[in-house]
Amino acid sequence: MTPLFGKLFDQLDARLHVRADTRKSANKVFPSNWSFLLGEVALFSLVILVLTGIFLTFFYRPNVEAVTYTGSNPVFAGRTLPAAFESIVRLSSDINGGLLFRRLHRGASHLFIATIVLHMLRILLTGAFRKPRELNYFVGIGLLTLAFGAGFTGYSLPYDSLAGTGIRIAYSELLSLPLIGDRVAFWIFGGAFPTGDVIPRFFVLHVMLLPAALIGTVGLHLFMVYRQKHTQFPRVGVDGHQLVLGKPLWPLQFAESTTLFLWTGGLLAAAAVLIPWSDVALLGPYVPGEVGNNAQPDWFLFWLEGALRIFPPIEFGIPGTLIISGPFVAGVVLPGLIFTFLAFYPFLEKWLYKLEGEWHVLQNPLEIPLRAGVMLGVFSALLLLSAAATNDILSRMLGIPIEVMTWFFRITVIVAPIVLGLGIARYARRRLNRRQRHVPSTETEAQQRYIAA
Ligand code: HEM
Repeated sequence: MTPLFGKLFDQLDARLHVRADTRKSANKVFPSNWSFLLGEVALFSLVILVLTGIFLTFFYRPNVEAVTYTGSNPVFAGRTLPAAFESIVRLSSDINGGLLFRRLHRGASHLFIATIVLHMLRILLTGAFRKPRELNYFVGIGLLTLAFGAGFTGYSLPYDSLAGTGIRIAYSELLSLPLIGDRVAFWIFGGAFPTGDVIPRFFVLHVMLLPAALIGTVGLHLFMVYRQKHTQFPRVGVDGHQLVLGKPLWPLQFAESTTLFLWTGGLLAAAAVLIPWSDVALLGPYVPGEVGNNAQPDWFLFWLEGALRIFPPIEFGIPGTLIISGPFVAGVVLPGLIFTFLAFYPFLEKWLYKLEGEWHVLQNPLEIPLRAGVMLGVFSALLLLSAAATNDILSRMLGIPIEVMTWFFRITVIVAPIVLGLGIARYARRRLNRRQRHVPSTETEAQQRYIAA
């Protein structure tokens, strides 16, 4: 520490007695493996989202009343537009730095969700969710849900043709809830869509409630990582359950994380300057009743869109009162089941293998055939559903009738995950047998039984 910082710190310590706690935190050990940086990039993206979002909030107008655009964009000059869309055109064409901040914000939102998904994949594949981290894994599932909510409400705010189509689909999903659908949809949207209330309400969610919930929950998540310490990959000759090896927070990890933050911001800024995207002129404002042929949600909701597209149009229930419909099963029941299954997966492993004790050393997913099979099954199903969201484009490109494409996805989305899941589980089991049930020397007896199971 420089003498100046040293003196300042002495003054602080004299008042708050922070020296002992600070030393403990500064010595916290971070494992040296790149996959531990995914959570950090998610964190940095969140910081960039908040900072760029504050700038955008100064100029965005959260309502859909008709206003005349008087700015310099030749495509919209003199046209009457919904105020929300008009403010996005002004941000893009008339406000210094507006387009840069819009692109930075959008880019950071994609990076945020992509790194959360990869981070979660690492946690799931390596078994970092096992006791004592099941609780933090649960907090993580909450974070994923909040991030999806923030992504969807943000995508809706420009009120361009894509946004309007997305909001209308969300409204139809609410309507499909058995018995209470219309009341819930009217309550959330303030009447039958399109209403004037939806954009102001999504705005409050997007700039206040969801960011506050995200920031609070990330704080809780990191506090739990701090208290429980990191897991780590196995190292020959080291009892990873007793000892974490790696870099101390101060100064090594701090320097590495600062560098990573600067790279994250720098690459997002370079992408914002060099890649011409977020161009509202290509889309135009939302006009109720008009649906663009290639209307697609953001990539992280493709799987949901795919499920809605290929699910058969079934309807059944008590005569006179519709209970269950295709959109309800594909858009509400299916995502509910996937999220619930992923949330409770740690308990499934714990129950199946009768696990006791704590687990701090990570695993190769092939060491646990059940996990390898289930994860490949779930993720291949999600990827196929995502591909099904492009069935119209694929059908045009390949010259295959759309009905054939839809049936292809209906069948493969069920068959392929089962075949792949069983295949990888079988391969993992054989691999274990070949290695004569070799297990790292650091495992306790109960853990060895689990790995060999
Ligand atoms: C806003 C989103 C998120 C942020 C900013 C975030 C951030 C972090 C960071 C910085 C770490 C420590 C480094 C590491 O272990 O990778 C961590 C650990 C962890 N995260 Fe997340 N995370 C997020 C979402 C999630 C999700 C969606 C899950 C799972 C459902 C999850 C589960 C965990 C677990 C179990 C740990 C402890 C892992 C270990 O010690 O190896 N997190 N998170």
